[in-house]
Amino acid sequence: MKEKTQQVFKEKFGDGGVAYASPGRINLIGEHTDYNGGFVLPGAIDKAIYAVVKPNGTNKVRAFAVDLNEASEFGLEEKDKPKEGFAKYIFGVAREMLKRGKTVPGFDVVIAGDVPLGAGMSSSAALESAVGFALNDQYQLGFTRQELATIGQATEHNYVGVKCGIMDQFASCMGKEGSLIRLDCRSLEHQYVPFDPKGYQLVLLNTCVTHELASSAYNKRRESCERVVEVIAKKHPEVKLLRDANLDWLKEVKTQVSAEDYMRAEFVIEEIQRLLDTCEALKKGDYETVGKKMYETHAGLSKKYEVSCPELDFLNDQAKAAGVTGSRVMGGGFGGCTINLVKDGKVADFVKTASTAYEKKFGIKPKVYDVVIKDGAHKL
Ligand code: GLA
Repeated sequence: MKEKTQQVFKEKFGDGGVAYASPGRINLIGEHTDYNGGFVLPGAIDKAIYAVVKPNGTNKVRAFAVDLNEASEFGLEEKDKPKEGFAKYIFGVAREMLKRGKTVPGFDVVIAGDVPLGAGMSSSAALESAVGFALNDQYQLGFTRQELATIGQATEHNYVGVKCGIMDQFASCMGKEGSLIRLDCRSLEHQYVPFDPKGYQLVLLNTCVTHELASSAYNKRRESCERVVEVIAKKHPEVKLLRDANLDWLKEVKTQVSAEDYMRAEFVIEEIQRLLDTCEALKKGDYETVGKKMYETHAGLSKKYEVSCPELDFLNDQAKAAGVTGSRVMGGGFGGCTINLVKDGKVADFVKTASTAYEKKFGIKPKVYDVVIKDGAHKL
């Protein structure tokens, strides 16, 4: 992948491009908790977005996306926002760096990658982090990895229109081989949790569907949470985010919020607790409990947060029927992957049965990925 990206750079822009990569991520548990100040448990994976970059001595960016076979050229003033989807991420990252007082001259960049798009593995965060890491290195801007994650998140907010949390960019920038990151999304305090579940494997099954409007539905979920916080805070002013609330305080406002908002907030508060319980279980090597929590998360995401879809629910049911230890939709939802914690001896059968049944029902062959947890953004 690195060679291919460098080759394309050479063809388009000549010699001297420097290659960087930043990975996608998985998340064991803790979904839709990040923008509520809760906890998440992601890890960077062995699939990445590659960026080959070289300053070009102008004030313009020339960008090419190999996988889309698409080019874009743009300046770096606010008015110059490109129309090509992939280029908005590059523009956004550079703009956010400029807004933080740095100088970012023009550059040439070629992008490629093997993080599947729309699979819930955060290809967009990987792109932001790869470009951020590359520019930071090329122009010696002095941002920390954590700041680069924040720059990626701000890019989503201000140039893509998704009001995402910090999980994906944090995992992509801060990932560590063999470890999950237990991240407190309110303080950004984090611990690396070595993850090597003896006797089990993590398997991703990609539904290969992405339902439309995922980003606007995502923003709506966030708004629901914010509305509930506003009401709870009237009585409990210390509540700034759902992380600060509890189920009793939520119950107090049941008649003052819509049934839908209530359900959303209930899921989030329960999910934050589920993550803490899962971390305890992990410490003891109790993977049966970890798996049980994953199923609970799926049920919550499907019934209360309503970010699942028939394809994901079907794969979750398949996992249950096959006696898989844990299974749930991963990431923002509305398509993408289920993440499955499977006993070694059951992997082959489960993958075969679930794939065959899924293809029969939906006419699409799901993609299967083993999870390998790797380091975050790096120069190649
Ligand atoms: C997307 C967002 C993340 C997070 C997840 C859901 O991946 O980018 O910030 O909210 O959805 O947990």
